[in-house]
Amino acid sequence: MSITKESELIGMQKISEVVGTTLKLMRAYAKVGMSTKELDEYGGSILKSYGAKSAPYETYGFPGYSCISVNEEAAHGIPSAKKILKEGDLINIDVSAELNGFWSDNGGSFVLGKDIHHHQPLVDASRQILQKAIQNIKGGVKIADIGDIIETEAKKSGFKVLKNLAGHGVGRSLHEEPENILNYRVKANRERFQKNTTVAIETFISTTSSYAVELNDGWTLVGNKGGYVTQHEQTILITDHAPVILTACNEIWR
Ligand code: CO
Ligand code: CO
Repeated sequence: MSITKESELIGMQKISEVVGTTLKLMRAYAKVGMSTKELDEYGGSILKSYGAKSAPYETYGFPGYSCISVNEEAAHGIPSAKKILKEGDLINIDVSAELNGFWSDNGGSFVLGKDIHHHQPLVDASRQILQKAIQNIKGGVKIADIGDIIETEAKKSGFKVLKNLAGHGVGRSLHEEPENILNYRVKANRERFQKNTTVAIETFISTTSSYAVELNDGWTLVGNKGGYVTQHEQTILITDHAPVILTACNEIWR
C-alpha cells in the first residue's frame, strides 16, 4: 500500500509489531516433542491477545493460524497434532495477520536444536540473501534487479531459488500490488519499487528444486524435485534510502 498519512504508518507499525512478536515468540516456544498444532495454537493465542486476526485462517480458510512447514515442506504447511517436532528439523513459520484494517506478513526458517542434518548453511544463505536484497531496495529500483540479486546470491552459495513463489505488496490486504516480487530476474518486468509503499520481501532458497508444487491436501507446497527450501520474510517501508523494516522485532536476522 501507499502510505500517505501518519495514521497509516502507525497502523502498519502496529500490526507489523504484532506479527513480528508472534513469530519471535513462536520460534522460542518450538521444542522437540511438541506438535505443530500446539505451536500454532500458541501463536494464535498471541495474535488474539493483540486483537489481531490471522490472515491465512480468516481470509484464506487455511486450517491453522500460521503456516508451519517442516523439513521437505517448502511452504503453507498445515499445523497438525500428528506432526511432532524432532531434533534437527528444518522448520519454517510464517505469520501474517490483520489489525484495524492493516495487514503485515513475516516468516523465517530455522533448525530446531542440534543441526544433525546440516541444514544451517541453507538457513544462513536465505537469511543473508534477504538482508542483502532489502538493503538494495529504495524508491525507483527495478523489482527485476532485486530478483537478480536474490538468484545470483543463491547461486554463489550453491543453492537455487523457487521461481513460482514471490514477495508482494502488503498493507490494506495480505497480497496487493506489486504482486510478484520474484526471486529471479524477469527481463520484461520494468516495474519499479515506489517510495512510501509497504511490501513483503521473501526469499525461497532451495537445495534441489526450482518450483513449488502442491500436495493433495490443497495447501502444503513441496519442491518439484524434492530437497529442502528456506524462507525469510520481512514487511518493509520503502524510502529514498535504506528501507524501514517494520517487522524487525521478529529478530530473524539473528
Ligand atoms: Co508470509
Ligand atoms: Co508473504
